[in-house]
Amino acid sequence: MVKKVKEIAFPTRTLILPGGVNATIKYAAEEWIRCAQEAIDDHGFFAVALSGGSTPLLIYRKLTSKEYQGSIAWDKIYFFWSDERAVPPNHPDSNYHMAMEAGGLIHMPIKKEQIHRMRAEENIEAHAMEYQNTLQTLLGNRALDLVMLGLGEDGHTASLFPHTTALHADKLVVANEVPQKKCWRMTFTFSLINKARHIVLYAMGSSKAEILKQLLHSHENGDALPAKRLGSTLNKAQFIVDDEAGRNLLNLTP
Ligand code: 6PG
Repeated sequence: MVKKVKEIAFPTRTLILPGGVNATIKYAAEEWIRCAQEAIDDHGFFAVALSGGSTPLLIYRKLTSKEYQGSIAWDKIYFFWSDERAVPPNHPDSNYHMAMEAGGLIHMPIKKEQIHRMRAEENIEAHAMEYQNTLQTLLGNRALDLVMLGLGEDGHTASLFPHTTALHADKLVVANEVPQKKCWRMTFTFSLINKARHIVLYAMGSSKAEILKQLLHSHENGDALPAKRLGSTLNKAQFIVDDEAGRNLLNLTP
């Protein structure tokens, strides 16, 4: 019997609480597979932007596991990334490296032409423009089918960190200087993210409980808490949250 997940609807986002860690990863993986099949049935391919972070990694491992890999039409998927660090593809900090190696995608039947890595390690501004062109060439006027996102304890998502210039960029993909981390990142902007058919943020663990409560209830603006800007009344974001991360929210009313 499929356990009913708890949902709490807010104006621009829906909070989904499947339960503990295992139930949440299972739910997130099965939702990913449902989105993929929905897109492939509708237009012949699934264009997904992967995210860095510990929670998305658990989802990749689930999708590439023996239990789930057979349910996915890997040859019909275009893989993008919603952000990337300014490091080479074989660097341990690379989001590409994490999804491919630690996440197991490298073992799936995926052609290299299906994989669009963000080349953030050099000429990051030019490569951000190039990445935006690649997206627009491949998708035309179509939106991405799914953008996967994590949540930092400071309220960042993708590499849209508090008080950084990317928060107000009109472009779709930009290089973003992150003074708080003394680094540069390549990142999707909200202009791109909020057009996706499915905008899904994943947050798990007690370390995310406080920031989630702030996101949903503080009056801080989107500069201080960027993840607040995910979704709209016309295109709600989904926040898939385990019990630990959602422990301050369970008695919430929208
Ligand atoms: C990155 C990610 C970032 C991440 C959050 C959450 O490049 O680091 O895109 O947005 O998802 O920092 O990371 P954790 O899930 O590991 O806390």
